[in-house]
Amino acid sequence: MTGKNLYIDPQRLPRHVAIIMDGNGRWAQRRGLRRVRGHAAGAESVRVVVRLARELGISYLTLYAFSEENWQRPAGEIRALMGLLVRYLRREIGELRKNGIALRTIGELGRLPPEVQEELARATAKNPPAPRIILTLALSYSGRHEIVRAIQTLAREVQAGRLTPEEIDQTLLQRQLYTNDLPDPDLLIRTSGEFRLSNFLLWQSAYTELYFTDTLWPDFREQEFLEAIADYQRRTRRFGLIQEQIAADSDGI
Ligand code: FPP
Repeated sequence: MTGKNLYIDPQRLPRHVAIIMDGNGRWAQRRGLRRVRGHAAGAESVRVVVRLARELGISYLTLYAFSEENWQRPAGEIRALMGLLVRYLRREIGELRKNGIALRTIGELGRLPPEVQEELARATAKNPPAPRIILTLALSYSGRHEIVRAIQTLAREVQAGRLTPEEIDQTLLQRQLYTNDLPDPDLLIRTSGEFRLSNFLLWQSAYTELYFTDTLWPDFREQEFLEAIADYQRRTRRFGLIQEQIAADSDGI
C-alpha cells in the first residue's frame, strides 16, 4: 500500500498501534473556535484512522480517548466529550460490525456516566464473532492506577494463601492488567508535539517504538498515519539484544 511518496511493507506492519490523540483544543483555539469543536474534528480523525488501520491489516488499535486526569477538566468539556463518544458509538457501531471491527475498552468504566456505560455495553455486545481488528478505547484510564489495581489483586491472593510473594512474576502481573488479552503495542504515536506518555500503557510500552509528530490530532489523517507506519518500518527493534543476534535470529526463520 502506498501513500504520497510512501511505501508500506504489508509484511512488516506493527501488529498493535496505540495512539495518544492530543491537540484537539489547540486546533480549535487556532481557528478561534471553542475547544469542543476540536474534539468533534478529532472524532473524524478517529473514524479515518480506524478505517485505514483495518484496511492495512493492523490487528490491534488502542486509542487514549479519556484519561483519569481528564476528569479535572471543566464540566462542560467533559460533558461534550462524553456526548461525542455516545454519538460516535451510535453512529459507527453498525459500520464497525460490518467491517469486522470489534470494540473493547480499558479503564475505570464505572466512573463514566450511565448513558456512556450503556452505549458501550450495547456496542460491545454486537462485536463481530471473528474480528479483523480489535479497537480498544482507553476511557477513564491511568497506567499507574492499572498497575496498582493489579498489585492489589495479587496481594489479596497472597493474603488468602493461594499465592506466595516469590511466585509473583511479570506474567502473573500482566494477567491482572486491563490489557491481559492484548499484545504489547509495537508502535505508540503521540500527536501535537508533546514528548510524554502521560500515564498511557506504562507497563505495556516497555519495548514499544515511540513516534512523535507536531501534527494536531484533528489534522492526523491517512497521510500522517501512513508516515508514522513508514517511520516504524525503518527502525530496527532489538529488545535489549545486539544487532548480530537479531540478524542470526531472522536467518534462522
Ligand atoms: C486531547 O486533546 C484529546 C482528548 C482529551 C480527547 C480525545 C477525544 C477525541 C479524539 C474525540 C472523541 C473520541 C472518540 C473515540 C470518538 P486536548 O484537548 O488535550 O488538546 P490540547 O492539548 O490542544 O488542549
